[in-house]
Amino acid sequence: MITVSQTIEDKLAELEKTQKNYWNIARETANFLSILIKSANSKNVLEIGTSNGYSAIWLALALKETGGHLTTIEYWEKRQSIARENFKICGVENIITPIIGSAFDVMDEMIKRDEKFDFIFMDANKAEYLGYFEYADKMLEKGGIIAADNVLSHELKVKPFVNEIKSRPDYQTEILNLPAGLLLARKS
Ligand SMILES: C[S@@+](CC[C@H](N)C(=O)[O-])C[C@H]1O[C@@H](n2cnc3c(N)ncnc32)[C@H](O)[C@@H]1O
Repeated sequence: MITVSQTIEDKLAELEKTQKNYWNIARETANFLSILIKSANSKNVLEIGTSNGYSAIWLALALKETGGHLTTIEYWEKRQSIARENFKICGVENIITPIIGSAFDVMDEMIKRDEKFDFIFMDANKAEYLGYFEYADKMLEKGGIIAADNVLSHELKVKPFVNEIKSRPDYQTEILNLPAGLLLARKS
């Protein structure tokens, strides 16, 4: 359990009822990411794939403890507006910058502005993971963490990404047997 207000806990429980429609991560995965962010004291987190904001709420609640900030990207406007409402209900709207747009276009602009992150969570189109990684790698600080969901549930689609990151000597990686399979990687 996390120590959050009843309003937030009720909202998270409500969102879990529509988890399949919005392709949200499992609660176990969300809780794990929350522990990880707090343990690593991550401050500047990027999420690729907001949907209705379920995982972003968990990430933001962890960042409340570290004093950090979340930037989250989504190209589906309807979903992003639902997410914005959910952020307000949970009181985390000040910790989150939701960006509407294609992840590639948004990250391209971030790289031009030399933006850096110490934690990047990939949870959008599984066939695009290798592409996300090429951008994420340019923005991830040394010592930073990449977490990618669905590496077991969508094993074939994410294979090019998994093979690439595992072959990189500057990344220490492990695949965790959480519900959809979570790849964790630390950049040295
Ligand atoms: C698996 S859902 C995200 C779920 C969310 N992380 C959660 O657990 O609550 C993936 C989302 O990524 C969005 N998406 C897919 N490809 C994208 C892209 N190239 N750029 C931006 N958003 C994308 C989809 O519209 C979808 O809402």
